Amino acid sequence: MGWIPCSGNPDGKKKRKSKMKKMEVQESMGDHTKPIPGKLKRNSSTNSIDPSKNGNSDHIAAQTFTFRELATATRNFRTECLLGEGGFGRVYKGRLDSTNQVVAIKQLDRDGLQGNREFLVEVLMLSLLHHPNLVNLIGYCADGDQRLLVYEYMPLGSLEDHLYDVSLGKKRLDWNTRMKIAAGAAKGLEYLHDKANPPVIYRDLKCSNILLGEGYHPKLSDFGLAKLGPVGENTHVSTRVMGTYGYCAPEYAMTGQLTLKSDVYSFGIVLLEIITGRKAIDNSKAAGEQNLVAWAKPLFKDRRKFSQMADPMLQGQYPPRGLYQALAVAAMCVQEQANMRPVIADVVTALTYLASQRYDPNSHSLQSPRLAPPTPTSKRGR
Ligand SMILES: Nc1ncnc2c1ncn2[C@@H]1O[C@H](COP(=O)(O)OP(=O)(O)OP(=O)(O)O)[C@@H](O)[C@H]1O
Ligand SMILES: [Mg+2]
Repeated sequence: MGWIPCSGNPDGKKKRKSKMKKMEVQESMGDHTKPIPGKLKRNSSTNSIDPSKNGNSDHIAAQTFTFRELATATRNFRTECLLGEGGFGRVYKGRLDSTNQVVAIKQLDRDGLQGNREFLVEVLMLSLLHHPNLVNLIGYCADGDQRLLVYEYMPLGSLEDHLYDVSLGKKRLDWNTRMKIAAGAAKGLEYLHDKANPPVIYRDLKCSNILLGEGYHPKLSDFGLAKLGPVGENTHVSTRVMGTYGYCAPEYAMTGQLTLKSDVYSFGIVLLEIITGRKAIDNSKAAGEQNLVAWAKPLFKDRRKFSQMADPMLQGQYPPRGLYQALAVAAMCVQEQANMRPVIADVVTALTYLASQRYDPNSHSLQSPRLAPPTPTSKRGR
């Protein structure tokens, strides 16, 4: 087998993260999680998930792999193959012997039931859901107590790497690329909210879960926390509060009531990070600037202060009107009151428009203003 260089990150850096990063905001809420509908059907060599719930007949069955196959693919989980590490385990770059395909392999920590539930949810969700802005699950391995997930390899890593790890010689993200990523991520979320049936609440939207392919094409990853959304008359599902500090909608953190609007709030935080280059929570900053929303809210009120919010890494190379419009979308998404936030379809309309307005830093002008800017103020709520 011809070996690929395993330094998966473009800059060869290995990322480790604190295991406690993904937190339960209020453990005392109690767990009202229900089993995820859908069943595993065993074929001779592949397991596929019954797509009938989703009306999705053109699904691609996730393959099963043996532990040995995945150990071979990663050269025994060699550290040079390590792409990063999150709350659930390590992610390695590998090459499948059978197809020669380059993949990313996530090895879940063997820490009991919670991890196993998230593994099952991830396999079920990603087997049922297919969209150009969702990462593709190639297969999985459930061998003994080993749990591994095999994904398409995303060559440019995560959005988080590009926004905050700029010291490593990476090209800084320009305005056009930022808007393209924001619009694509919103489309992935729109598919989950409006096209999937029943709707899916993603629950873990953040910059490290937006992975980037060639040309900075964004895809949402990590569905281990996703929930099937409210059906019928219901507007929310009750659940133990899980998520990542700084991205959780206030009403969800306080009551455990999860709605599609909780995801819209998290999307607003991501959009703010994309525009400002600031982290949702940054303890290295001065007291009033550690929490991104708390820092941004007073600035939203004064249009003259908008330029102070643009990421200094942009070096002033952004369209002032585009900045204003993008900040207006972010401000609407992070409103305290969930029913005041736009639905994701309106966010997609606004950001697709913004992404279509190519900014040329050389001419300092907007090009091809073909469409009138939409105002995402619809209160079509769920
Ligand atoms: N399919 C993939 N292709 C390329 N790199 C990936 C892929 N999946 C994950 N990675 C890399 O591995 C890192 C760790 O991913 P992982 O999902 O385990 O953790 P995280 O998103 O940082 O945190 P969390 O566990 O809270 O989701 C990512 O930040 C990314 O750099
Ligand atoms: Mg992740």
